[in-house]
Amino acid sequence: PRVSLWGGRFAGGPDQALAALSKSTHFDWRLAPHDLAGSRAHARVLHSAGLLSDEHLAGMLEGLDRLEADVLSGDFTPAEDDEDVHTALERGLIERVGTDLGGRLRAGRSRNDQVATLFRMYLREHARVVAGLVLDVVDALVGQADEHLGVAMPGRTHLQHAQPVLLSHHLLAHAWALLRDVDRLRDWDARTDASPYGSGALAGSSLGLDPEAVARDLGFARAVENSIDGTASRDFAAEFAFVSAMTAVDVSRIAEEVVLWATKEFSFVTLHDSYSTGSSIMPQKKNPDVAELARGKAGRLVGDLAGLLTTLKALPLAYNRDLQEDKEPVFDAIDTLEVLLPAFSGMVATLTFHTDRLESLAPQGFALATDIAEWLVRQGVPFRVAHEVAGACVRECESRGIELWDLTDEDFTRISEHLTPDVRSVLSVAGSLASRDAVGGTAPVRVAEQLAAARDRLADA
Ligand code: ARG
Repeated sequence: PRVSLWGGRFAGGPDQALAALSKSTHFDWRLAPHDLAGSRAHARVLHSAGLLSDEHLAGMLEGLDRLEADVLSGDFTPAEDDEDVHTALERGLIERVGTDLGGRLRAGRSRNDQVATLFRMYLREHARVVAGLVLDVVDALVGQADEHLGVAMPGRTHLQHAQPVLLSHHLLAHAWALLRDVDRLRDWDARTDASPYGSGALAGSSLGLDPEAVARDLGFARAVENSIDGTASRDFAAEFAFVSAMTAVDVSRIAEEVVLWATKEFSFVTLHDSYSTGSSIMPQKKNPDVAELARGKAGRLVGDLAGLLTTLKALPLAYNRDLQEDKEPVFDAIDTLEVLLPAFSGMVATLTFHTDRLESLAPQGFALATDIAEWLVRQGVPFRVAHEVAGACVRECESRGIELWDLTDEDFTRISEHLTPDVRSVLSVAGSLASRDAVGGTAPVRVAEQLAAARDRLADA
């Protein structure tokens, strides 16, 4: 007969269909090491509270050690009848130390406070891993920015040529966004640094157990302030899912540019062979699959977040079984990032930039028109007039099929009395770049500082 944790009140075990629905070992088994750590900490507070003798505690810890070794070696795995990781490990402990001793561990704890704690522990571990992998992408961007310092490219708005920028400036823009994602993980970690163990099912424990001691034992700074909140809230999971989704979305924006840049039409970059794929039919193909998968996985992570928030919406306090649905989306987000980010940083680090092409395209599309307008402003011309005059230059060039720097001195005077040959000083990419020298601007001196700042951030990480 099926064994369950609530035998006393029931005449028989659960129906097969209920058991199949209820089961979560296929996804929560990954929490086994954390469940065992929780059990050790719990055994110690039971002992401190006088509910386990020295002998009991020693036997319990020894049994948990043996169980852990069997879990790690794969000798102990969830059985068909085990509902979740907690049930399976309780069975494993009882099999090793007997019912009398093994049956004492459940006092004063519930799977509700257990799972809320273990989930936090697991996420905190992986937040560190994910942060490290995001920093690897930042490192790849910073490396490319460093290597190409001084190279100009077309800066775009609306995907149209806007103003020339340094390639390094553009790459670092992505780096700063990702560094904020790392900051978000750290801020999240500080908020999640509280243990719900000891909250029991929802109301706390009557057995004189010290939640602060368990919290410290499990590497948390503190215990949660409220046992209902401790067992019922999953905002930590939702926030983690948000940061994961945000990270993937930030990565997808780089990905989309790489896809474009690798086209024949752009020809800004060539992907390294080891980070591109071929076609089974078209022998010439070299496809940006890493970038495309990054773009695609971002949608998946947004879905994980949306699914989790939908589970949580309008859920009454305290624990409801709906909460068992909290884990798969977040585990999926972690698994996805942990496989995506290493490939992505490798792809970025091995991109070859076609700097001659980037440079030659940088001023195209009349990208220096703003420089004419701003030059006029520096000569005392009101911006409204300056904008008109620069626009007239563009119109003139467009109709004659020439570029702004092809305009003659006579052309300038004809277009406006304010335009003198001196305006040529800004009609070069180098002049345009150098003039944007305020903090955060694309002037080479500023970008060099920015690069150093990004490097410092990486070194601190
Ligand atoms: N496996 C459950 C979860 O992930 C924990 C068990 C709580 N079950 C219960 N009937 N109170 O949320």
